Order: sequence, then structure tokens, then C-alpha cells
Amino acid sequence: MDILITGGTGLLGRALCTALLADGHRISVLSRRPDRVAAVCGAAVRPLARLADWQAGMSFDAIINLAGAPIVDLPWTHARKQVLWSSRIGLTQALVEAIAAAPVKPRVLLSGSAIGFYGETGDTPCSETSVSPASLAEDFSQRLCAGWESAAGRAADLGLRVCVLRTGIVLSHSGGMLGRMRLPFRLGLGCRLGDGRQWMSWIHIADWVGAVRHLLQDEEAAGAFNLTAPQPVRNADFSDALAASLGSRIHLAMPALALRALLGQRAGLLLGSQRILPARLAAAGHAFRFAGLAEALQDLHGADQVRQA
Ligand SMILES: NC(=O)c1ccc[n+]([C@@H]2O[C@H](COP(=O)([O-])OP(=O)(O)OC[C@H]3O[C@@H](n4cnc5c(N)ncnc54)[C@H](OP(=O)(O)O)[C@@H]3O)[C@@H](O)[C@H]2O)c1
Repeated sequence: MDILITGGTGLLGRALCTALLADGHRISVLSRRPDRVAAVCGAAVRPLARLADWQAGMSFDAIINLAGAPIVDLPWTHARKQVLWSSRIGLTQALVEAIAAAPVKPRVLLSGSAIGFYGETGDTPCSETSVSPASLAEDFSQRLCAGWESAAGRAADLGLRVCVLRTGIVLSHSGGMLGRMRLPFRLGLGCRLGDGRQWMSWIHIADWVGAVRHLLQDEEAAGAFNLTAPQPVRNADFSDALAASLGSRIHLAMPALALRALLGQRAGLLLGSQRILPARLAAAGHAFRFAGLAEALQDLHGADQVRQA
């Protein structure tokens, strides 16, 4: 297939490019820094600086839309929220406009979202179908995900098969949350967050890539899919498992009050409880390589040790 990826230079996009190239697909990546694309994503990957370049005669079979400014890194000021919004919703709207204008349209759009879509779910297990519209669109991250999904959904009116990727916390050896946590945990400075009872819905990056490859090929797949492992865990258990996998132990807890003072609204990303299950992926016959956290962490730390050797 000819595939266009937005956000292909990011943590998830890079892993996806590697896998899709190995599968024999031809990949283009839309990037604000097209000169870096070949070095970051693979020499065979074609850079695209602007969506307008697409209209100059190329066609794509599939689009995978992952671009978005990082959500955790900076305080959610009014200006930052605008960047978070326009880099996802604005770009997705422009993408759908480009699809509408393209003489040969792609067959499928896989578009980013996050389990932030569900907001706070407490202890209740939550699948794609267990949400009532009334409980949605309360906080900023929910509104962001809902707006992102709705912008992508417009591509279905153009005849595309559209899947939205409600991604959980992706565990990767190359960065993301695990990249931030590894050093303090290794040094014995890891801690539980708040009371540690909040659920964390994680996924190993290999399974995230596997799920996207599945959704790319499965002609029956459409709508929202939770990209999370089948066994979410509480924060206390996650922290203990991560510390144990690094030969360390948890001695500390970061009080919720301190996190809120430090991070403002973003503290909700760490203190919120989301017990999300990948019901539709399971129903579609997708098999996870890493259902349990201990095996996932063991695999990722193994990859680390191989790189350090
Ligand atoms: N990683 C996770 O655990 C996780 C969980 C849930 C959802 N997600 C979502 O999945 C998507 C990919 O995640 P990721 O971890 O790969 O993200 P990432 O590493 O931060 O990469 C995102 C990509 O988006 C592009 N981008 C960044 N700021 C932008 C801006 N202001 N305007 C336009 N494009 C911009 C960048 O591409 P260029 O610099 O090449 O333009 C960047 O490579 C993100 O939208 C993220 O919100 C990720």
C-alpha cells in the first residue's frame, strides 16, 4: 500500500514506519521538518512538507493520522491549549479537506485519539460501548479527544473506512512515559502517585503497532478501538512492577495535592483512573503479545540491555 503518516517522526510513528516498511508498504510522512524524515523514519520514507504537495499528483491507499503537540510537557495555558487543539483538530480538518479534494481518495483513515476520551472511569471497566454521551466532553482532554475523533469521522462521509485509535499509555524503550520514569525508578526514587488506587491502561508498543497493522488490513474494522492491553493495573501495582523490573523498590508516594500544585490541570493525566478494556480489538480477533505488565516490562528492559551491551 501507499501510506501517508502524519506524526510519523514521533514515538509511535517511528515504530510504525519501521514495521510498515518491513511489511513492504511505501511510506510518506507529513512533517514540519521534512529534511529530518529520512534520518528519523527510514531512508526509504518519502517526506511531505505540506498537504498541498499531495494534491500535486500523488495518491495514497491509507492515511494514519498521529500528529499532535505533546500533551504532558507544558502547562495548559490558553495559548498551549490552542496549540494542542490546532495540531490535532486543525490538522485533521485540513487532512479531510485534502482527501475531499484528491481525485483518487484513500480507502482508509486510521486517526489518533486517546483513552482520555473516557475521562474519569473510576473502578468501572470501560469498553468502547460503555460510554453514555452525557458523561463526555467534561474536561479539556476529553474535549480534545472528542473533537479529534469527530474531525476524523467526517472522512467517512467521503467514503473512507475510518478507525479511531483510542490509545492508552504506550510503553516503549525509546521514550514516552517509561522513558521519563526509568531513571528515577532505577535510582530508587520512583513513587506511587496519590493514593496509587487509580487504574492505568497501558499497552506495549509492539502491541500498539500490531493493532494498527490489524486495523489497516481488516476491511470490516471501523469506528473506535481501544488500543490498551487487556490487563490494566492500579498505579501502585504499576509502580511496584516497574521498580521490581529495575531491581529497585518503592519507598515514596507523591501526594495528590503536591502533584496538583506542580502540574495544575495536567495532574488529572496522572491521578485520573481509567480502567479501559480493548473489547473491540479482542472481538476482531486481535491477539496481544503482552497482555500482562510484568512480561511487557521484562521485554522492554531486555531491549534496553541489548542496546547498552
Ligand atoms: N505515546 C503515548 O503514550 C500516547 C498515548 C495516547 C495518545 N497518544 C497520541 O498519539 C499521537 C502520537 O503519539 P507520540 O507519542 O508518537 O507523539 P510524539 O512523539 O510527541 O510525536 C507527535 C508528532 O506530532 C507532530 N507534532 C508535534 N507538535 C506538532 C504541532 N504543533 N503541529 C503539528 N504537528 C506536530 C511531530 O511531527 P513533526 O515534528 O515531524 O511535524 C511529532 O513527531 C499523539 O497525537 C499523542 O497525543 C500518544
